[in-house]
Amino acid sequence: MNNYILPTYNRIKLKFLHGKGSWLYTKHDRYLDFSSGIAVNCLGHSNKILKNALQSQSNKLWHTSNLYTISEQEKVAEQLCKLSFADKVFFCNSGAEATDGAIKIIRKYHYENGNKKKKKIIVFNNAFHGRTLTGILAGSNESHREGFLPHAKSTGGFVRVDYGSIEAIDKAIDNNIAGIFFEPIQGEGGINVADVNYLKEVRRICNKYNILLALDEVQCGIGRTGKLFAYQWSNIKPDLLTSAKGLGGGFPVGAVLMTNKVAKKMNFGSHGSTFGGNQLACAVALAVIREITKKNFLKKVQDYGFFLKEKLEVLKLNYPMIISSIKGKGLLSGIELKIPTDTFCKLAREKKLLLVPAANNVVRILPPLNVKKNELKIAISVIEECLKEVS
Ligand SMILES: Cc1ncc(COP(=O)(O)O)c(C=O)c1O
Repeated sequence: MNNYILPTYNRIKLKFLHGKGSWLYTKHDRYLDFSSGIAVNCLGHSNKILKNALQSQSNKLWHTSNLYTISEQEKVAEQLCKLSFADKVFFCNSGAEATDGAIKIIRKYHYENGNKKKKKIIVFNNAFHGRTLTGILAGSNESHREGFLPHAKSTGGFVRVDYGSIEAIDKAIDNNIAGIFFEPIQGEGGINVADVNYLKEVRRICNKYNILLALDEVQCGIGRTGKLFAYQWSNIKPDLLTSAKGLGGGFPVGAVLMTNKVAKKMNFGSHGSTFGGNQLACAVALAVIREITKKNFLKKVQDYGFFLKEKLEVLKLNYPMIISSIKGKGLLSGIELKIPTDTFCKLAREKKLLLVPAANNVVRILPPLNVKKNELKIAISVIEECLKEVS
C-alpha cells in the first residue's frame, strides 16, 4: 500500500483493473465477485445501463447544489415514495450520513411536537450503522468507539437492547424514548434476520407509545432480499428508512425516506448536504431503481436466493464440523462457520472467489442481484472445495 493512505483498512493485496458483470479482473486473473463492494454493485460491474445513465448525465450537468431544483433528484424521490411507505426523501451520500439524518429527524419530530425530553433511541446488539460519531454510538461495536468520544461512557442518547427480544424493548421504554432504529437484517453483525412477527410487534410498541420506527436498509434494501425493501416482506410500515449502498449501484448516494407526519417537522435549514442527491448520483440511482423494479427482476432474486440457500443447506449437512448454520434472505446470505472466517475467505480468494466476512463468524455471500445461475453454481463449487480442504 502506498504510504500516503491513512491505514484504516487492512487491505488485501489485490488490485483490480476492470470489471464486467459478476467478474473482477487483475492484470493476470479474474475473480468471481460475490462481495459486490459489500452489497453495493447490485447490477454488477460496468453495467451498460448504469454507464449510459452516468455518461449521458455527465455530458449535461453534474452538480448545481440543493439551492436549485434538481429534476433528477425529484424523479428518484418520486420513485422511492411510490414504491414504498414514504412521502418524502432527503438525499445524502452514504449510509452513515443517512443514519445521522434519520436520528436527527426522529429527535426533531418530538422536539417540534413539544416533547423536548424525548431524545433517546433504542438500538441493538450486533447493529452497525456507519462510522460517523452518531453511527458509532448507534452501532454496537465498542472498538469502533474507542478513543473517539469525549467521555468513554457516552451513550449519545442511545439505549441498547438484544436484537430479536420484544421483552427487552418493552423494558427499555420510558418517557424519554423517541424511537427504535434497527436493520431488518443485520449485515455486519452476521446476517441476523428479524422475523415478520418481530417487525409487527415492534411496530405495535411504537404505535402504543407514540414513538418512531426507523429501519436501516442500507445493506438489506434495494432488492437484496428479493423485495425492493426488506420490510416489505411484512405488512408493517416504518416511519423512516435509510438507504445507500445498492441505491447508486457503485455511485455514492444515500437517502432517508419518511412519512409526511415526520417530514412536516423538518423545516428550511434544519438539515442539508452539499452533494446530497446531485444530478450525477440521481441519474444513476434512477437507472438502478428502474432496473430493479422491472418485471421479474426481484422474482429472479428470490428464486436465486432459494437456489443458493438450498445448495448451502446441503453443504451444511455434508460439512457439519465446519458449518453451524446458513443465514439470510434472497441474495443477502451468510454461512456461519466453526473456523475463522478470515481463513475461509482467504482460501476462497485463492480459488478466485471473493466473499466478505461479517461478525459472529459469518461469511457473507453477496453476489450482484443480476448474477447468472451458472455463476452461483461456480461459487457453490468453490465453497465446497474450500470446505473439503479445511475439513
Ligand atoms: C446497515 C448499515 N448501515 C449503515 C452503513 C454505513 O454505510 P456507509 O459505509 O455508506 O457509510 C452500513 C455499511 O456497511 C450498513 O451495513
